[in-house]
Amino acid sequence: MTGRRLSFLMRAGLGLALGAAVAVSTFQEPAGAQSFPTSTDVETYRDTVESVFMEDRGGTTSGLASCVMCHTWQTSVRFSLETPESPAGWTIGQSRRNLDVIGQLINTADPESSRLLQKPLAQNAGGLPHTGGTFWTSTDDPEYGRLLQWIQRLPDEQFIPAPEPEIDFDFFRACVQEVFANPRDGQLPCTRCHSGGMIGFAPAPGRADRWSDEEAQRAYRLISRVITPGNPEQSRFLLKPLHPDGGGAYTHNGPRRWESRDDPEWQMLAGWVRGERVGSSCSS
Ligand code: HEC
Ligand code: HEC
Repeated sequence: MTGRRLSFLMRAGLGLALGAAVAVSTFQEPAGAQSFPTSTDVETYRDTVESVFMEDRGGTTSGLASCVMCHTWQTSVRFSLETPESPAGWTIGQSRRNLDVIGQLINTADPESSRLLQKPLAQNAGGLPHTGGTFWTSTDDPEYGRLLQWIQRLPDEQFIPAPEPEIDFDFFRACVQEVFANPRDGQLPCTRCHSGGMIGFAPAPGRADRWSDEEAQRAYRLISRVITPGNPEQSRFLLKPLHPDGGGAYTHNGPRRWESRDDPEWQMLAGWVRGERVGSSCSS
């Protein structure tokens, strides 16, 4: 077992303390036979849900790639699965950890509202915009049905997301858009690359030197997609331009504006994402 544990630690490439904690929990039996998830629960989850994540869809781009191609650590979102140990998929221990992550994306009290169901679903069928594309054109899709049924069969109180704070529009308009337009240290402004399409949350003002209501509203809708309300550490908006050494995303085809989360501007934006900063006053 020592040898196995050691190689696990090395592969995990995590801090030793964290790695050890993870390794230990891998070998623990679940507390109390009745508590979720039992080994049967994990098996059911593997067969029903992880098989969808692994499904080869014949491509490598939005709507065609398998979920797991994008949803491991590279994507730096909350929905981050373990890197499968073999081409056949995850070990039981890995599946248990994946299930912890999935628990944050579902709502057992209101299954249809689960992000896990809404993100891959077409927007005109009640889905949410998703960088990964549309996988289900309607709620009649058999995969959708399978996942919905799985969530419905979990105990009602098992996974209930905390209420999300409101992300204030006035603060976005007055303070966040200013960040986009004003580059630092000779970097390109966000507006240069984020003016159009799905990543167009930072358009340059169209006519005047201020954004019209319509421009600001559209940008606000687009940026909500890269925000996890209440959770700045897991919001792509605050991860992409943050230096990897400071906890930021591994890749961004644009500059790193903040060296670390201590940057006062990062803190200001984090306050907004937590729902704490509202109105049009930008100084703290
Ligand atoms: C081509 C890459 C790609 C693929 C394939 C992909 N996604 Fe995504 N997904 C993303 C990105 C990027 C985000 C974060 C931005 C966003 O929400 O659009 C995301 C976000 C999500 C979220 C929200 C995560 C959160 O923290 O709230 C869920 C849920 C999700 N995807 C589910 C899926 C499922 C299920 C599949 C497979 C059926 C899938 N995705 C396939 C790229 C992808
Ligand atoms: C030189 C061009 C460029 C600049 C400048 C730039 N970005 Fe990006 N950014 C990109 C590209 C291209 C992508 C998509 C590929 C990727 O994820 O790296 C991206 C992706 C992102 C994403 C993820 C979008 C999504 O839908 O998942 C966020 C958030 C982001 N950038 C924030 C910013 C912020 C904030 C700024 C300004 C501080 C900025 N970027 C500046 C090119 C740029």
